[in-house]
Formats: sequence, C-alpha cells, structure tokens
Amino acid sequence: MKITRINSLLQETPVGKKVVVAGWLRTRRDSSNFSFLEVNDGSCLSNLQIIADDGLDNYESKIKKLTTGCSIKVEGELKESPAKGQSVEILAERIDIVGWADPDLYPLQKKRHSFEFLREISHLRPRTNALGGVARVRSRLSYAVHEYFKKKDFFQIHTPVITTSDCEGAGEMFRVVTEPELAGTSEENKSFFGRNAGLTVSGQLQAEVYAQALGSVYTFGPTFRAENSNTSRHLAEFWMLEPEMAFCDLNCNMDLAEEMLKYLLSDVLEHCQEDMELFNRFIEKGLVNKLQHVIDNEFVRISYTEAVEQLQKSSQKFEFPVSWGVDLQSEHERYLTETVYKLPLIVTDYPASIKPFYMRVNDDGTTVAAMDILVAGIGEIVGGSQREERYDVLLGRMQQSGIDEEEYQWYLDLRRYGTTPHSGFGLGFERLVQFVTGMHNIREVIPFPRTPGFAPC
Ligand code: 4AD
Ligand code: MG
Repeated sequence: MKITRINSLLQETPVGKKVVVAGWLRTRRDSSNFSFLEVNDGSCLSNLQIIADDGLDNYESKIKKLTTGCSIKVEGELKESPAKGQSVEILAERIDIVGWADPDLYPLQKKRHSFEFLREISHLRPRTNALGGVARVRSRLSYAVHEYFKKKDFFQIHTPVITTSDCEGAGEMFRVVTEPELAGTSEENKSFFGRNAGLTVSGQLQAEVYAQALGSVYTFGPTFRAENSNTSRHLAEFWMLEPEMAFCDLNCNMDLAEEMLKYLLSDVLEHCQEDMELFNRFIEKGLVNKLQHVIDNEFVRISYTEAVEQLQKSSQKFEFPVSWGVDLQSEHERYLTETVYKLPLIVTDYPASIKPFYMRVNDDGTTVAAMDILVAGIGEIVGGSQREERYDVLLGRMQQSGIDEEEYQWYLDLRRYGTTPHSGFGLGFERLVQFVTGMHNIREVIPFPRTPGFAPC
C-alpha cells in the first residue's frame, strides 16, 4: 500500500479507511496494554497519534523499545479520535521499525533546545517543530515567487553562479580558482577562465541582458558575499530574488516590489496557517497581525534627504551619527520604519557616492534613482534602482568608479543598441523568511547557513 502524508490525511480525513503512514517518532506513552505513539512525517506541524496494542506481534519485543527519533512505518485504520486536540488517529494493525535512534546518543530530546544548540546539529534540526516550520514556510514562499511572476508574464532566467563581473563593486567577491592555480602548477600559469572569476554577488547585470530581450524577467538563486559581518541579518551565502524590467522607471519598480511583497505575505498567511500560528505564539507575539498590517496599508515613500532630516531631528541616540551623504545603518533604518512611520518604508534617491555605478543619475546630478525597502525588525529587505540607460552617463560613472570599461563592453552595448529605461531590485530571500516567521537570527531561516568561521555541512 502507498504511504499517505499526514498533511493530506488530516485534510481529507478518510475515516474508516486503511492507510499507511511513515515518519519519525516524537514520543511514546505506555498504558496498561497499549501504547500511544506520536509520529511526525514532516508534511505538516501536526503529529499523528498511533494506537499500538499488545496484540501486535512485535509489541513487547520492539514497539515498547521505541524512542524519540526512530523511523517507523504504520499500517492501520484511520479512526475519529476521542482525545482532545486531534481529529483522527490510527489503530495500528502492523508497525515496522525502519530505523532505530539510540536514546543515549540522539541529541534531540523532548525538551526545548536553544536555536544556538540546534545550529550545531544542522543535519537534525529540521526535525524540530520550529525549524521544520521554517522549511515549509520557506518552500511555500519560493513557490509563491514563481507563481506571482508567472501571473505577471515574467520569465525566470538562470544567471550564472560563477561570474567575471562584480555587480555591487564592494570588493566582497569570493574568488574562484582551481587547485593547480592555487599551487602555481597550472599549465603556463593560466587561470581556468583566462581571467579573474568569482562567485556572483548578484545576478542583476545578467538579468539586465535578458530584460533587454524578453522585457520582464527574474533571477532567483544563491549569491555570495565575503563581507566580514557577524550580524543576525548577514550571511556569506544567501538567496536573492531579482526581477528586472525593461520600459520601467523607479515608480513602476516600487509598485512591483510593494505588490509582490503583499502577494507573498498573503499567500503564506493563507497556505501556512498551522506553522504561522506556531510562530505567532512562540517566536513573535503579534506576528500575524504585523503581516496583515503590512498587507492592508500602503508603504510610505520618502527620499533619502527626508529620511536624513527625520533622523537628525529625532531625539534618539544613534551609535552612528547621521549627516547627508552617509549610508543609513540598520539602527537608522529600523528607527524610521518601526518608530517614525510604523509601516514598511521605501527610501529613494540616495547620494550617488554611496551607491553602485549602474544606478541612474537624477537631474540634480548628485543623487541616483535608488530605492531601498525597510521593514520592522530587519531594516533593509529590498535594494533596487532604475538603471542608467544613457551610454555616456554610464560610461562616466564607470570611469569614476574605476571600472575597466573593456570588461564591461557587453553591459555598455545594451545602452548602445536599443536602450530602454529599465529597473529592478533584489529581495533578500532569507530576510523575507525572517520577517515572515519572526525568527530573530538569519541563520535559522536557511537550511545550511554560511557565515565567517561557520560552514559545518
Ligand atoms: O542591496 P543589495 O546589495 O542589491 C543588489 O545586490 C542589487 N544588485 C539587487 C538588484 O537591484 N537586482 O542586495 C539586495 C538585498 C538586500 O536588500 C538584502 O535584503 C539582501 O539582498 N542582502 C543580504 N542578505 C543576507 N546576507 C547578506 N550578506 C546580504 N546582503 C544583501
Ligand atoms: Mg543594499
């Protein structure tokens, strides 16, 4: 008989039917002549209760030795459950023990473990309620991303992980070299690609190529930054969602970002209710209301200059002083969105001097058509801009930034042949998952976090 996932059993509740479920034991409780087994198969937060009575031929020899973490396969009849808090249970007719888990060694016990401890066992932590829930919510968000962009007639582009262009130009690239190159024994000392290559910091420049052909595209994949930031919001490897649109200015870009974020939040509230309720109760009180508030209200849009004015006139003490021309720190971003506006905030038109070469220069000549979206608890969740579509202006910005124009001729060509006003942004996918689940540390929302000094498996 085929295995049925607990999630679908609970939704369809085919009471009276014979079913097979398979999963990992959470707990075993013994009564006089039978045991209750709580099984979780990862398909949802809920466990399924199994009644195993002493009529089962392996009851004494095996079932009564089951402990947390063992994997089992259960065949039996689905019944309405008389117990509180669950609708159905299985009266087992056969239980196979698939894999034992030595209780003296298995690190996940019934008590609650700290997230720091769980990080040390990243190969087992998805078996906990919270981390399992994060994985399901993350998967749903990823699905919703593709669904949203399909509905909007965007095409997904698989941009390269190994790249020869440094999009953000912040010197945060990981270099890609071969073993012989490292050892200095490569043939004629040639590098593999014939030039410097690194792990991508952003798929934007390549996405622009396809936007200039297919109109509206997005890339969604892993990106890498060798920045030495040990914060609750930074990873060395993180996923970024980057839409890019031809014939689209900064306003069009902001409208898309706002609509998309609201779509993703609504989707997850609708489809991940059980997990979201867990986060709402145990991780961030008021989480669901916070997300609903974001969905129901227009984001506030202000310029960088206005943001700086707000910060300067506030009585709040900041670690980093604010003046026009400095980059906003997370403490500033959070103060603005959490305390001043109490809504997601889109800050536009930053000084050109603190933003990358590709952003479109405004008429004032000193600011660029950038937009960052800031949210409570996180700060910057989205960074984007209108791109410089004028060949001469772009060339000037590249020269100013010390970029080798020969290497970026292809990028300049996009402005030479059928240029368009175009825009896009990058959404930090883990920051979104953090915002949605209320998880305090970004290391809990990616299955295998990589940070300075940390990359266990
Ligand atoms: O603002 P960033 O650096 O923008 C870009 O890379 C653009 N090329 C995107 C584009 O326009 N297509 O990064 C975008 C977002 C940030 O707003 C943040 O949410 C996230 O990526 N991010 C990080 N997330 C986790 N760890 C890090 N080290 C991150 N750096 C950026
Ligand atoms: Mg940014």
